[in-house]
Amino acid sequence: MSQPLAQQRPRLQSVRGMNDILPPEAEHWARLEAAVIACLEGYGYRPIRLPIVEPTPLFTRAIGEVTDIVEKEMYSFADSLNGEALTLRPEGTAGCARAVIQHGLANQSAQRLYYLGPMFRHERPQKGRYRQFHQIGAEVFGLAGPDVDAELILLTRRLWRDLGLADMQLQLNSLGQPEERARHRADLIAYLEGFAEKLDEDARRRLQSNPLRILDSKNPLVQEICAGAPNLLDYLGEESLAHFAALQRILRDAGVEFVLNPRLVRGLDYYNRSVFEWVTDKLGAQGTVCAGGRYDGLVAQLGGNPTPACGFALGVERLMALCAAQEQGGMAAAKVPEVYLVHQGEAASRLAFRVAEALRDAGVKVLLHCGGGSFKAQMRKADGAGAAFAVIIGDDEASCEEAQVKALRDAAAGQRRVRVDALPGLICEHFFNDTVQKENEHGSI
Ligand code: HAM
Repeated sequence: MSQPLAQQRPRLQSVRGMNDILPPEAEHWARLEAAVIACLEGYGYRPIRLPIVEPTPLFTRAIGEVTDIVEKEMYSFADSLNGEALTLRPEGTAGCARAVIQHGLANQSAQRLYYLGPMFRHERPQKGRYRQFHQIGAEVFGLAGPDVDAELILLTRRLWRDLGLADMQLQLNSLGQPEERARHRADLIAYLEGFAEKLDEDARRRLQSNPLRILDSKNPLVQEICAGAPNLLDYLGEESLAHFAALQRILRDAGVEFVLNPRLVRGLDYYNRSVFEWVTDKLGAQGTVCAGGRYDGLVAQLGGNPTPACGFALGVERLMALCAAQEQGGMAAAKVPEVYLVHQGEAASRLAFRVAEALRDAGVKVLLHCGGGSFKAQMRKADGAGAAFAVIIGDDEASCEEAQVKALRDAAAGQRRVRVDALPGLICEHFFNDTVQKENEHGSI
């Protein structure tokens, strides 16, 4: 006797750390993305769509050979058809800079761009940390002043307000210019070498390759050592200091609170001068919701004309989790159909399709029942879907181009039989009156 199919074939699962986003969560995502995009467009940012796969050297050169991302987190592979070294993008800035160079976008005027989509890092999955995660990023090319750094921060502050998120803390630092960092680096290595036997393995490994990252260590012993380390801010020259001071002044004028954090060094090598992170204590260990800064050297380093640049990326999963943690009513409300179309019989089904399309033309959200079943079973589905109305068509109604309309959330409203061509007007009138009434209740008219 043959085995049942389920036993023969192992069930396939999604890759660890790469998640399906199901309804209603996917609907919350769409609303969140729309809110972020509206905010970005309000500041003049324009969309750019970038490939998910890029040549591997783009990331090694942009992010840096001795960073966690490049050393151990990239999904890199040789294209089996032509041997090309490719990588699933671990972030969006490098690809965006590549596209700007490739298409000469910043040659004529400054560019304010935004993108969204999946990024891939082979990290150990945990709450708020995934192997496929999603970012919405904004990048500005061609503007060198601290006003743009401030603009990006003001934009994100507005976004938190739009989303009703309180308690986001802005942390700020300046990483200076490469020459300034080089002098600090030499002193930092000399200082840390004095504690070599007390440093953990990770810090010892980074001592020569990327000592700045040791400042970011989570190990309390290493943190203690770092408390006395040379401070990068003391190595900044006049111009870098003026840039940083001007950024802080604009933020203070705009009433943006921030904390100066000399330990904020970022995990990607392309940054210079201003760097920032928006952090929250509501998400446990993965509390950085949005991060970015200036990267004036990247475009030239990738072969383009020297072009100052600045940007940020926010983590959509973390932002979603934060919205859920703060129980945003607007975010949590699931999208429900306004009308559920119940139909039985051949003529009725044909009419139901026409009626559904006519209602949708009028802007009504319609769920057309599929899969047959008794009127009673279909009505149960209509109720379960949360629709305000059931529109019911049997062959009797269909023969006179009519339908029954039943209000599902208002028992007193009962049921009426109407001509189908009057339906869109009738339903729209209900929703219009309802909206006007709600707006009146809230005093907005
Ligand atoms: P990043 O700090 O590597 O910066 O990532 C930005 C944000 O993406 C983080 O703050 C976090 O919210 C989210 N994120 C990062 N890794 C994960 C993960 N494994 N799981 C879930 N969320 C994650 C960048 O990527 C830069 N490209 C930002 C930037 C744009 N700088 C200038 N322009």
